[in-house]
Order: sequence, then C-alpha cells, then structure tokens
Amino acid sequence: MKPQASNQKKSSISFYIISFCFVFFVVILYGEDFSCILKQSTLNLQEPEEEKPEQLLPLHVEQEKDLVLPFAVERGEKECNLFSGSWVYDEETRPQYQEEECPYIQPQLTCQAHGRPDKGYLHWRWQPHECDLPSFNATFMLEKLRGKRMMFIGDSLNRGQYVSLVCLLHRSIPENAKSMTTNGSLTIFTAKNYNATIEFYWAPFLVESNSDDAIVHRVQDRIVRVGSINKHARHWKGIDIMVFNTYLWWMTGQKMKILRGPFDSETKNITLMVTEDAYRLAVRRMMRWVEHNMDPKVTRVFFASMSPCHERSENWGGEVGGNCYGETKPIEDPNYWGVCSRKSIMSLVGNLFTGTKIPVTVLNITQLSDYRKDAHTSIYKKQWNKLTPEQLANPKSYSDCVHWCLPGLQDTWNELLYAKLFFP
Ligand SMILES: *[C@@H]1O[C@H](CO)[C@@H](O)[C@H](O)[C@H]1NC(C)=O
Ligand SMILES: *[C@@H]1O[C@H](CO)[C@@H](O)[C@H](O)[C@H]1NC(C)=O
Ligand SMILES: *[C@@H]1O[C@H](CO)[C@@H](O)[C@H](O)[C@H]1NC(C)=O
Ligand SMILES: *[C@@H]1O[C@H](CO)[C@@H](O)[C@H](O)[C@H]1NC(C)=O
Ligand SMILES: *[C@@H]1O[C@H](CO)[C@@H](O)[C@H](O)[C@H]1NC(C)=O
Repeated sequence: MKPQASNQKKSSISFYIISFCFVFFVVILYGEDFSCILKQSTLNLQEPEEEKPEQLLPLHVEQEKDLVLPFAVERGEKECNLFSGSWVYDEETRPQYQEEECPYIQPQLTCQAHGRPDKGYLHWRWQPHECDLPSFNATFMLEKLRGKRMMFIGDSLNRGQYVSLVCLLHRSIPENAKSMTTNGSLTIFTAKNYNATIEFYWAPFLVESNSDDAIVHRVQDRIVRVGSINKHARHWKGIDIMVFNTYLWWMTGQKMKILRGPFDSETKNITLMVTEDAYRLAVRRMMRWVEHNMDPKVTRVFFASMSPCHERSENWGGEVGGNCYGETKPIEDPNYWGVCSRKSIMSLVGNLFTGTKIPVTVLNITQLSDYRKDAHTSIYKKQWNKLTPEQLANPKSYSDCVHWCLPGLQDTWNELLYAKLFFP
C-alpha cells in the first residue's frame, strides 16, 4: 500500500502542473468565449442578491414522494445502476454517426480529420451490468423537445457533450431547418420545425470569476466570486432542461482565491479558501438559482460529474513517462480510478445533490470514462500553436489527455442522459 500512496501523491502534484498547462491552453483554445463578454462589460452586472457565502444554508428538504418527473415516458428499471457496467466492442451499432457527417464538431475534437490512425475507439458501447440502455431515437427526442429550450452550462467538457447531442439529433432535421450561432458565451442550435433550441453557455465555475472575461490569464491569478451568479444566470431564464458541470477549472491547487464584492471595486477583498469548500459554495449558489427559477413540475436538471484525464500511464500499469498518447483500448480493471478525479469532490457531489428541493439527476460519468484511456483527442486535433521540433519528436509532450474525440465517449454520456430523461 505504501508505494502506491506516495505514487498517488506524486501523481496529484503532477496533475496540478498538468492542469496549469491545460487550463492555459484551454484559455487560448476557447478564447473566443471570452471576447464578447469583454464587450458587454459596460452593462450593469451588479448582483442584487449576493450573499456572503457563509449565509448559504443547506438546501436539503424532504422530497415529494410520488413526484412524476417531467419528460418521463416510462419508468426505467428502478434498481438498475446505469453507471456500473463495462465497455463492449460493437462494430455494428457504434458509432452512431460519422465524424464527417456532423458539421458542428469543433476542430479540437475531430480526430479522424487530424490523422488519428486507429478507429477502435469509435466502436465501444456502454453495457450496464444490470439492464440495457434504451436505444437513442433522435426523432423521439426532438418530439419531446418541441417548443422547449435545453441548455448545457459549464466548461469545454460540457461543450463536448453538447456538440455530441447536436450530432446525435441533427440528422433527423432537414438541412434548411437548423442552424447554430454563437454570441459570446452562448451558442444556440435551433431546430426550426420543432421550435426547439439546444444551447451551450460557457461558465467554467458556474459562478462569476475572472476567467469569464480575460482572454489570457495565469491560473495562479484565478479569482472566483462564489456567491455571485446573475451575470451568467440572466441568460438561463426560461430553460426547460439544464445539464451543468463544473470541475476542471477548480483543480489548480489546494486553495482558491475568493473575492467578496465586485471585480471592479478599487479595494478587493480576496481570501483563500480550501478548494472543496469553495466548490461547495459555488454549487450551492447554483442550486439556489435553480430553486428560484426552475419548476420541478415542468423542468429537469442534470449534473455531469467530473470528466477524468489520463496523464500518466503508470497509473494503469503502462510504461513510465507515457500518457494517453498511442492508447487504443479501454482499461479493463473494473476498480480503476484515475488520479485526476478527486474522491473528495465526488463525495461532495453525492451530498450536494441528494434530497434537494428541485431534483437533480447526477450523470455519474466519472468511472465509466476513467476506463477510456483510448478515447482522448491526444495529438489528433487542431493545434493552435506551431509545434516545435522538440515537441514533434515527442508526441506525448503535446498530447491532450483531457478532451475526447467525437464521435466517441461523450455520445455515451448522452445515451445516459437520454435514459435518465425519458426512462428515469
Ligand atoms: C422513434 O421515435 C419515433 C417518434 O416517436 C417513432 O415514430 C419511431 O417508430 C421510433 N423509431 C424506432 C426505431 O423506435
Ligand atoms: C416556441 O417555443 C417557445 C418556448 O421556447 C414558446 O414561447 C413559443 O410560444 C413557441 N412558438 C410556437 C410557434 O410554438
Ligand atoms: C449578442 O449578445 C448581446 C448581449 O447579450 C446582444 O446585445 C447582441 O445583440 C447579441 N448579438 C447578436 C448578433 O445576436
Ligand atoms: C474580507 O472578507 C472576510 C470574509 O467575509 C472578512 O472577514 C474580512 O473582514 C474582510 N476584510 C475586509 C478588509 O473587508
Ligand atoms: C459515482 O460512481 C462511483 C463509482 O461507481 C461511486 O464511487 C460514486 O459514489 C458515485 N457518485 C455519485 C455521486 O453517485
């Protein structure tokens, strides 16, 4: 046990370093997300209802017993844990669409177009141990979304899931009846003949932060206002289905910088807070917004748990110094748990979303994604900076072991969402 523990420690230190680098390049990749918010900064962004984080009380209440969940058409098998299962190689039914058929995939995720030589990663199907997943029917889902607004809120991993869902649905919509537009933090896919939108809103911390409006900034200077969400949330009013996540951007160390009061005030009161505590406050702020703005009788709320990464091959018994680069098969050890997924956050997630006034369905995608060391974009993506000869000579040095190729793993996250939405 001992060597493993010290290994874990080393791994988590290296994870922070990797996270630093990663978040830095995310900022560059998704720079367009920030530019428009800058333009909006003249708007009055005051938070009338900001509360001191200490005043955010627990929100847990008795849940209504026979609450019929909106959108549900049928009860699923109640005892079946969809998130416990294994990956089955299935060339016949996977993938559900081809990369080149879906024009909405951003070039950071189109692995085949960027020369990925192997295709096995496309053919894995998630098989829960205790039951089967309902098969994804795009027409059915679009019918259920008629006249509705569905929104994904979170970071680039949430955006990947968003794009995957659009890809799964768009074939059932005629060419001239769909569109996708982006304005600042908000991307909207419209299915015109269904009067439905599926949207993505960029808010990596959910609450307000200085990562919302800077194009490039150092991770060390990251500052979060844990009690303040309205700057973002005013764009969320009236949504019918919400799918949110937040994790990766918090993983910059053991503590977060917390700001009391507005960013533009002359004297800033910034204190340090243990990451888990800050994370809890931000998610509670989110939940308070949800309670005040969403109606459990007609809307649904989902939370996607942390998306894992595969930065160190030793963790799964591979070569020292390797990472996800060159991996072509899932991990088979059913107990594998990656070092990027903090267990402390997972247990927080369990607590935060149990027995809330508005039911939140957790998409517990962490473990099943942890097996998929083969599913990352690795080096097969649009590179924003010219690679140096040293990098080119050592591909794993610039391999992205955080994001996922599309089609791929994230289509499964949406199959699970589909199952939980319609067959809870
Ligand atoms: C998919 O859903 C549509 C609309 O509900 C239905 O007409 C169709 O039969 C379904 N297709 C399959 C293969 O189940
Ligand atoms: C379209 O959907 C919106 C809600 O997203 C609703 O307010 C509006 O009435 C719908 N329009 C039509 C023509 O059904
Ligand atoms: C983009 O959003 C801003 C602020 O929300 C709005 O003022 C502007 O009209 C929008 N632009 C377009 C092209 O929709
Ligand atoms: C900063 O905020 C903390 C926590 O709310 C508070 O205890 C402290 O007095 C504040 N400091 C100043 C200078 O306002
Ligand atoms: C998610 O699944 C993992 C592994 O099966 C489990 O350890 C964890 O408790 C689950 N978390 C939640 C919030 O359900």
